[in-house]
Amino acid sequence: MTIRFDAVPPLDPKVAAFVGGSHAMLVGNAWLPAASGKTLDVVDPSNGRIIAAVPAGDSADVDLAVQAARKAIDGPWSKMVPAERARLIWKLADLIDANVDMLATLNSYESGKPIGDSRNGEVPFTAETFRYYAGWATKINGETMTINAPGDWHAYTRREPVGVVGQIIPWNFPLSMLAWKVAPALAAGCTIVLKPAEQTPLGALYFGKLVQDAGFPEGVVNILTGFGETVGAAMSAHPNIDKVAFTGSTEVGRLIARAATGNLKKVSLELGGKAPTIVLGDADIDMAVAGASSAAFFNAGQSCGAGTRFFVHKKIYDKVMSGIAERAEKLKLGAGLDPATELGPVVSQQQMERITRLISEGRSDGAEIVTGGARAGHVGYFVKPTVISRTRPDMSVIREEIFGPVACAMPFDDDDLDKLAKDANDTEYGLAASIWTNNLGAAHRLAAKIKSGTVWVNCHNFNDVTMPFGGFKQSGWGRELGEQALQLYTETKTVAIRLP
Ligand code: NAI
Ligand code: MG
Repeated sequence: MTIRFDAVPPLDPKVAAFVGGSHAMLVGNAWLPAASGKTLDVVDPSNGRIIAAVPAGDSADVDLAVQAARKAIDGPWSKMVPAERARLIWKLADLIDANVDMLATLNSYESGKPIGDSRNGEVPFTAETFRYYAGWATKINGETMTINAPGDWHAYTRREPVGVVGQIIPWNFPLSMLAWKVAPALAAGCTIVLKPAEQTPLGALYFGKLVQDAGFPEGVVNILTGFGETVGAAMSAHPNIDKVAFTGSTEVGRLIARAATGNLKKVSLELGGKAPTIVLGDADIDMAVAGASSAAFFNAGQSCGAGTRFFVHKKIYDKVMSGIAERAEKLKLGAGLDPATELGPVVSQQQMERITRLISEGRSDGAEIVTGGARAGHVGYFVKPTVISRTRPDMSVIREEIFGPVACAMPFDDDDLDKLAKDANDTEYGLAASIWTNNLGAAHRLAAKIKSGTVWVNCHNFNDVTMPFGGFKQSGWGRELGEQALQLYTETKTVAIRLP
């Protein structure tokens, strides 16, 4: 397995100028350094080189951004009619499309993911998410109620914006995670303090320029760069933030929920996963092999919905496993900016070390490493696509979120759906699952038994802006995307009037 290092085209001059320029945080209408003057480095994960420095904010910067967001929601933003909000959000979507090259390049440069995935997948999906919620801005309505008490009454509900929202996002899908949070919050009429992950701030900062170009009133979207332990923790505990929305690790989700108790701010959490991928005996093998490989290796496995626990019927187990291993071995590893790359590096040294540690634990626990099983090369943060067989439910590779290009599998004896559901549900997580079968009855029955926010059948990692996404159990609180996301960003007010 070789990694190509020589095939990264030179950066477009406009992108190079942005990356190499000085970076600041968007607070109100101003671009500011951190009050402390501190910065943090952004690294190219394909070679470990520093590509930029951005402000490393802390609580003083959070205070300023919250003031700007509060001023905006008490001022011009709340006076705009929904159709005006809708037009601005739609315009922002058009600007995202118009800047697809810039955004896709930044996204792949700082996260390491293949440029084709950014350009043809994530950036268009980001624009589509804004368009979808632009449509919702004019459709957030209350209801009237028919009252049971005697007398004449008129009772109705209003859906009001929850207020100033803090949004903390991860590095695995820097732009679509931004869109999943920012777009419904804008549609609902909230104002925002957004913190991108410290590994991937550049795309979010460029997005801030597009927000200004679209003509949003100042302070509606504020963007702070910095570490989770400083900016993120200050946002979670801030008394003047009304709601915090987070995507990331279950461990940090717990910290945020705890910090939010001070002012009992609303909390939504999209956390880790350990998705079962269940291949029944009758499944279309080619389809299952292609789908299961993509479930495990897409985005180098750095996806909360990634397929990581494969349960495969014993009669097709060897065929499926060798098919996945063969695909793994053919993947072209390289920098995200190399157009031929199919599997990029993982995002950071820390992630690479975590993944290889878990693989080693699997090996010493007695699992069989079918292919991969180690770091790839000595430069950058590449991990060989790895297939692990003969796992047991107690192994750490089966219990912990690996978040790397690692498929772990075990065979099962027969299509006993209750037993399969029990095994699939044997995890603290409950984000997603996939079932591979041509048996319609088995698909529906098993889908009903699995405790997870999403169940895919004959597909995996399929997200659509219309479909709610979120977790059962320790995979989180609340649902993003679809109409349901609007509930995260609105409060219901009941008005009851006794008619004189
Ligand atoms: P993380 O949960 O620490 O980071 C995600 C975001 O939370 C970042 O913006 C970070 O700055 C912020 N954050 C960190 N500590 C915080 C705190 N105390 N208060 C408020 N915000 C805070 O995730 P990390 O360390 O980057 O990755 C560790 C593991 O987390 C991964 O291996 C993976 O298992 C999981 N993860 C899951 C994600 C998902 O999509 N569900 C995304 C990223 C990581
Ligand atoms: Mg962390």
